Amino acid sequence: MKIGFISGTGKEGQALAIRFGLSEHSIFIGSRDISKAELSGNQIRNILPDVEILCSDYKQTVLQSDIVFIALPFSVVENQLTPLKNELKGKYIVDTTVPLSLNKGKFTRLSGLKESVSQFLYNLLPDSHIISSFHTISHLDLKRIQKKMDHDLLYFVNDKKPESKFLELIDTVKGLNPVKCGTLDLSILIEHQVPLLLNINKQYGKSTSIKIHGL
Ligand SMILES: NC(=O)c1ccc[n+]([C@@H]2O[C@H](COP(=O)([O-])OP(=O)(O)OC[C@H]3O[C@@H](n4cnc5c(N)ncnc54)[C@H](OP(=O)(O)O)[C@@H]3O)[C@@H](O)[C@H]2O)c1
Repeated sequence: MKIGFISGTGKEGQALAIRFGLSEHSIFIGSRDISKAELSGNQIRNILPDVEILCSDYKQTVLQSDIVFIALPFSVVENQLTPLKNELKGKYIVDTTVPLSLNKGKFTRLSGLKESVSQFLYNLLPDSHIISSFHTISHLDLKRIQKKMDHDLLYFVNDKKPESKFLELIDTVKGLNPVKCGTLDLSILIEHQVPLLLNINKQYGKSTSIKIHGL
């Protein structure tokens, strides 16, 4: 599949690109700054020399991809994606955004947001197919390609079409076990759990994730 990353230069976006590149997908690295995209692309080529990697701006990245991962700070999501509304029509979007706040060394979910980021995107981009996932999968785990992943991948989605495409994509990656958690409005629940994991990570110096027992 052709998979784009906005941005493909940040910690999560680049790590996702590496993990999906490992499964031989075509990778499109998007950045506001093409030289930054090239730098990230070259770092990935050093790890995965045989993978097709193209580097460009956000618009070209969207146009060339079937599936676009959103890995942006929450504060810029609306401003960066609104100008791409037309290009994002008909595309599958995997939203990984967590609206985080760090105050006096403690992580919490940003206060005052009434809806989940993915529900917000569903309303902002009505002609795109939104999936909410990967919030609890750390870039550190995605990047450690020598280590087998064994992660529950919590996801939220409203419609069958994006769900089928997402599951088809995830099936190509070893060690990701998809767990359906409901509709996009409910992904507000995971936005509250990520700060919990980050505070635990700080205490123990580890990268933790969520495992669902009993399924
Ligand atoms: N890090 C993780 O392990 C992890 C795990 C799960 C989910 N997430 C989520 O993924 C998102 C990105 O996190 P991250 O850790 O990858 O962040 P990051 O390393 O800071 O990367 C964010 C990227 O956003 C782009 N960007 C666009 N407009 C920006 C602006 N005005 N200011 C700063 N950056 C801007 C930048 O790419 P260009 O300059 O190339 O455009 C930058 O590389 C967050 O919502 C986070 O909650 C992260």
